Amino acid sequence: MALLWQFVLVLSISTLYFSQNACTAHALNAIDKCWRKNPNWRKMRMQLGTCAVGFAGKMTNNIGKGATFYKVIDPSDNPSDPKPGTLRYGATMITGKVWITFKRDMTIKLQKPLLVSSFTAIDGRGVDVDITGSGCLVLYKATDVIIHGLRIHHCKSHGPSSVMGQHGKLMPLGQMDGDAIRLVTASKIWIDHNTLYSCQDGLLDVTRGSTGVTISNNWFRDQDKVMLLGHDDGYVRDKNMKVTVLFNHFGPNCNQRMPRVRHGYAHVANNFYRGWEQYAIGGSMNPSIKSEANYFVAPTSGNKEVTWRNGIDKNNQPWKFYSKGDFFKNGASFEQTGSGLAKPNYTKEQMFKVADAKSVKSLTSTSGALKCSRTLRC
Ligand SMILES: *[C@@H]1O[C@H](CO)[C@@H](O)[C@H](O)[C@H]1NC(C)=O
Repeated sequence: MALLWQFVLVLSISTLYFSQNACTAHALNAIDKCWRKNPNWRKMRMQLGTCAVGFAGKMTNNIGKGATFYKVIDPSDNPSDPKPGTLRYGATMITGKVWITFKRDMTIKLQKPLLVSSFTAIDGRGVDVDITGSGCLVLYKATDVIIHGLRIHHCKSHGPSSVMGQHGKLMPLGQMDGDAIRLVTASKIWIDHNTLYSCQDGLLDVTRGSTGVTISNNWFRDQDKVMLLGHDDGYVRDKNMKVTVLFNHFGPNCNQRMPRVRHGYAHVANNFYRGWEQYAIGGSMNPSIKSEANYFVAPTSGNKEVTWRNGIDKNNQPWKFYSKGDFFKNGASFEQTGSGLAKPNYTKEQMFKVADAKSVKSLTSTSGALKCSRTLRC
């Protein structure tokens, strides 16, 4: 009996110790608060799925009964005949829900773009995972995908080819421009806590009728074209696109498209912008953008205006660029256009509390892939 009490005491003291270390260092934002306070997150990885907010909604289709845990042990890559133990095998050859983790730190150099199947979660927490090479990640007609905790960089373009796709079927792929992550006709996608930089084309493209996307807690840096929502002016189906851009850190050395929006709707909230060259937020083809409680630091010299519009006809284009509660530093300015508030109309499970713009620097201070050591701290 005495022994048991000692055990309980030690357990509660250590829980206290870990939880204090886990969360006193910085204020945790609405998403991080949901899992980073839990010192045992490593044993309950799938709980992460319940933490998503914004247009992706809760990622409940990725978790629970019937999910396969898959561990990447081999950094090699064979695009047409993936070996068990590699990332590509886990992302394409397993049917149903799969939750992918990594055994150790590794750099995966993709030989061709990597197609990620529906109901896949890639969870890099606890180790340093770098993904680079040709591609990189392509979510083609995929739904219910979580990409978390990866560093994706130096992605190169790749000509038309065929690669392993969903359900272990070879898929023909067109030209890939060299984006870190590209969504094509994808929906219910959550991209959280990744570090994306220095790719040949852009860092994140949401294209061809993709919708229900939340892009949160990422660190975007060292890139000309950062984020494209809606690929081309002629693709009218992107009118239905809804994307939440939340708690991200842009810069240093980002030039434009944070994001650039075509046709659809973006709620851009609580992001930290460390300058830009051409602009931060822009668009064409009547997009609606609600910029809310972001922290904009204009570049010291050059263009101070946050916003940019292509081909706007102020008289008959129902554009909505709306700024609410944004914080402007260094002379940053935002030109509002259109009427109406461009409300996101979130459902209860998509809803989140937007923080005060002045707290954004602190709420985004651990954006990007987290350094989680072997202790349970994250
Ligand atoms: C939210 O509802 C209003 C009023 O119905 C509508 O004008 C607006 O387009 C909606 N927003 C989105 C993102 O669908």
